[in-house]
Amino acid sequence: MGQMTEKISEIKSCVTRLLDWYRRNARDLPWRRDITPYRVWVSEIMLQQTRVEAVRPYYERFLKELPTIRDLAGADDRVLMKLWEGLGYYSRVRNMQKAARDICERFGGQMPGNYEDIRSLCGIGDYTAGAIASFAFGLPYPAVDGNVLRVMARLTGNGGDILNPSVRKQLTAAVEDILPNDVPAEFNQAMIEIGATVCKPNGVAGGPVCKGCPFETACQAHRMGRETELPVRVVKTRRREEDRTVFKLWSGDRCAVCRRPERGLLSGLYEFPNVKGHLSMEEALNTVRKMGFEPLQILPMARAEHVFSHLVWHLIGWSVRIGDVEPDETLPYQFFLQSDIKKRIPIPAAFAAYAGQNSWTDGTEPQERVMTGAGPADQQNGKTK
Ligand code: ADE
Repeated sequence: MGQMTEKISEIKSCVTRLLDWYRRNARDLPWRRDITPYRVWVSEIMLQQTRVEAVRPYYERFLKELPTIRDLAGADDRVLMKLWEGLGYYSRVRNMQKAARDICERFGGQMPGNYEDIRSLCGIGDYTAGAIASFAFGLPYPAVDGNVLRVMARLTGNGGDILNPSVRKQLTAAVEDILPNDVPAEFNQAMIEIGATVCKPNGVAGGPVCKGCPFETACQAHRMGRETELPVRVVKTRRREEDRTVFKLWSGDRCAVCRRPERGLLSGLYEFPNVKGHLSMEEALNTVRKMGFEPLQILPMARAEHVFSHLVWHLIGWSVRIGDVEPDETLPYQFFLQSDIKKRIPIPAAFAAYAGQNSWTDGTEPQERVMTGAGPADQQNGKTK
């Protein structure tokens, strides 16, 4: 027997123990109850870049608002974005709606019951297709996410870079080798669960807890005492850093928001007016005037930082009181009651530090010179002269 075959067969001999362990230790998670293809799909998409505890409330609310694939297909974009607000990576839910529409057109509103058709849907990659096929339809496909890659790298003692596609391929093949055809759903869930609660990532998660692990005797990394060295991840990309200045423009109880472009970062969501760079008070006032408003008072707001996968925003903010504004279709800004912004307008988490104020002085740092010199008498419906 080759060395790899021998390792795999040792790991395979632990699978019964893994399934027993899972039956005794599985966390009671909402998506593990009342399993339907749609429920599995929604949960797996939410869980892709978000922790289990953060997902729970979003999951329940999403399914209550949009209980079927048809409801998702027909949902208003703003409602959809509001349901996703705070989860980040909004293209996930946009792709889900595209796929839901496709399911209505091609499959009569029901998730198709075979791997190839599931995999053909927008936003559904190998992992999610494997999860839906196995959890919802009992089909013998692996569901290999980052957690399962980590577990498998340790089990087989693979020291390759798990971000490298050929290493992922090897590890996925190893999962296919040990996957039992009669209980793929339990097996895949058990591998995810072992990764989340036992074979944990190094670092803040605390690393692996090998004692009592069902794979304890077969795990190559544990045998070599290398469980905290594996898996190897070679991170190449550095995040770009960007300074930005955010404006909270208050006209009475209303604040200005604008819709981001349909493509790119945070596409189609609403944001507070903002520009590149950190603007001084004078520069901020001039920018507000260029936007078409006459500032009456200005106060600095707290600094904030938002980390995207490829970018970090260093934010400063100015709260600016302006005069009355009349609806003007030619301006890119819309004014909404602050209370409505909180309730109905999808503002991405990047602007969270500036979304919750109840008045123009909330969240600001008092300064002496806040009057701009322009009084209400100088106002012409918020437009510069
Ligand atoms: N992470 C990704 N999928 C999961 C699932 N089905 N249960 C728990 N955590 C997960």
